[in-house]
Amino acid sequence: MAAILTIIYLLASITFIIGLKMLAHPSRARRGNLIAAAGMAVAIAGTIFLYRDGAGNGLQNYTWIFSGLIIGGIAGVVAARSVKMTAMPEMVSLFNGMGGACAALISVVEFDHLVDSLQTLPGLTVIDAAFQTDLRQRLLIIIAGLVIGSISFAGSLVAWAKLSGKIRDFIFRGQHTFNIILLGVIFCMAVFLIVRLPPGGIELFYLILGLSLLYGIFFVLPIGGADMPVVISLLNSFTGIAAACGGFLYNNKAMLTGGILVGAAGTLLTILMCKAMNRSLLNVLVGAFGNSHKSVGESRERGIYKEIALSDAAMVMNYAQKIIIVPGYGLAVAQAQHTCHELEKLLETRGVQVTYAIHPVAGRMPGHMNVLLAEADVSYDKLQEMEQANDEFSSTDVVLVLGANDVVNPAAKNDPSSPIYGMPVLNVELAKTVIVNKRSMKPGYAGIENELFFQPGTSMLFGDAREVLQELIGEIKEL
Ligand code: TAP
Repeated sequence: MAAILTIIYLLASITFIIGLKMLAHPSRARRGNLIAAAGMAVAIAGTIFLYRDGAGNGLQNYTWIFSGLIIGGIAGVVAARSVKMTAMPEMVSLFNGMGGACAALISVVEFDHLVDSLQTLPGLTVIDAAFQTDLRQRLLIIIAGLVIGSISFAGSLVAWAKLSGKIRDFIFRGQHTFNIILLGVIFCMAVFLIVRLPPGGIELFYLILGLSLLYGIFFVLPIGGADMPVVISLLNSFTGIAAACGGFLYNNKAMLTGGILVGAAGTLLTILMCKAMNRSLLNVLVGAFGNSHKSVGESRERGIYKEIALSDAAMVMNYAQKIIIVPGYGLAVAQAQHTCHELEKLLETRGVQVTYAIHPVAGRMPGHMNVLLAEADVSYDKLQEMEQANDEFSSTDVVLVLGANDVVNPAAKNDPSSPIYGMPVLNVELAKTVIVNKRSMKPGYAGIENELFFQPGTSMLFGDAREVLQELIGEIKEL
C-alpha cells in the first residue's frame, strides 16, 4: 500500500511540475492547470484511501473528510464560476488566504497531537537527547507553518479587502518599528517554546498564533498604490512555504513538492514584479510606500487636455498603418475584451497592423491582461512585452490606450516625487497620435494625475470602453 501511495505522490509531483511549466504559455495554460488539478485529485484520493500509519491503520474520520471536501468543493466551484473577471484578483487573494489558513490549522492540530503524546510520556528530563532533538525539529516545522500560514491568511484577507475597495491603506507613525518589534517578539517566543518544549507552553503557542495574525494585518495594511502586486505574489509564496511545512510534518511528498513549487514560483514572481516596478523588495515592504500619492486636487497645474470625436478617432485609426492597443484595468472593468478583438480584426481587414502592448502590472493581478485577451481569443503572437513595445512606439501611427492609466504615466520617468517614480512604463507618447479611452479624468490605482493626458499628441476619448469600442466599430464600418 505504502509503495503505491509513494508512486501516486511521485506522479502527482510530476503533474504539478508539468502543469506549472504549461502555465507559462497562455495557449497551454488551461490544459496545464487541468493536469496539475488531476494530479492533486489523485494524490488526495490516494491519501484518503491508501494511507496507513505505523500500526497499519488507515484514516477513519471519513464523515469529516468528505463533508469538508464537498462543502469546500461546492464553494470553490460556485465562487470560481460566478466571479467576474474584474473580481478575479480579489478571489485569488482570498483563495491564497485559505491555503495559509489550512497550513496554520495543520500546525494547530499537530501541536495538539504533540502535546497529547507528551502527556502520556514520563517527564522530559528522562527523555533521551535524540528524542528531544527530534521533538524540537518537529516543533520548529509546526511553528514555522503556524507563523507563515497565519501571516499569509491575515495578509491575504487584508489584500482582498483592499483590492475590493472595502478598506483603504492605513499607516500610523512608527508602524515599521512596530512591525519589526512584533516580528521580533514572535521569533523570541517561538525560540523559547522550541527550547523549553511542551507539554507546557500551550498559551504561548496560541499567543504566537494571535500575534502572527496581527502581524499579517499590519504587514499588508500600509502597502498601497502600485506596490500591491509585489505583496500579493509574496503572500502567495508564503502560502507555498507554509504548505511545504505540512508536507514535512506528514512526510507527504506530494504536499511537499506542491508547497515548494508554489513557494518558489511565488518568490520568482515577487522578484519579477519588483523588477517590473524597478523597486527592491525592502523598498516595497518598509520603504517609500506607494500610498503617498498626490490626489488630483493637490496636483500641480493640470494643463489642458483635448478631446477627440468618435468619428475622427475612427477615421485616424482606419487610415493608420500601425496601431498599438494598450489594455489596462478599465478594459477588464468594461469587459470589453471581445469588442476589442472585434475592432482589431476589423482594422486588419482594412490593412492596418494591430498589436497589443502588455505592461507586466497592468490590471490587478499578474498576467491579468494576458488572461483577459486570451479569453477573447486574441492571438498570443499579437501581444508584445513592454521592452519590445517600447521599441515600437516611435514607428507607430496610433496608440489606443484602453482603460490604462498608471502603466502609461510618464511621471514614472520624469517626476522623482511621484510614488510610481522608477517604475518602467510604456512610452506611448513616442507614437504619432495617442488616443486615450477612459470614462473621466479620474486617476488610476496609484491615485496620481497623468501628464500624458495633457500632452499635445494625446486626445481623450471619454466613455465606457465597451460602448466606445462598439461605436468605433460602427463608425469604421461606415468608412
Ligand atoms: P489603472 O492605473 O488602475 O487605471 C485604470 C483606468 O481605467 C482608470 O484610470 C479608469 O479611469 C479607467 N476605467 C475604469 N473603468 C473603465 C471603463 N469601464 N471604461 C474605460 N475606462 C475605465 O490601471 P493600469 O494602467 O492597468 O495600472 C494598474 C495599476 O494597478 C498599477 O498602478 C499597478 O501597480 C496596480 N496593481 C496591479 C496589480 C497587478 S499584479 N497587475 C495588482 C494590484 C495593483 P476612469 O475612472 O476615468 O474611467
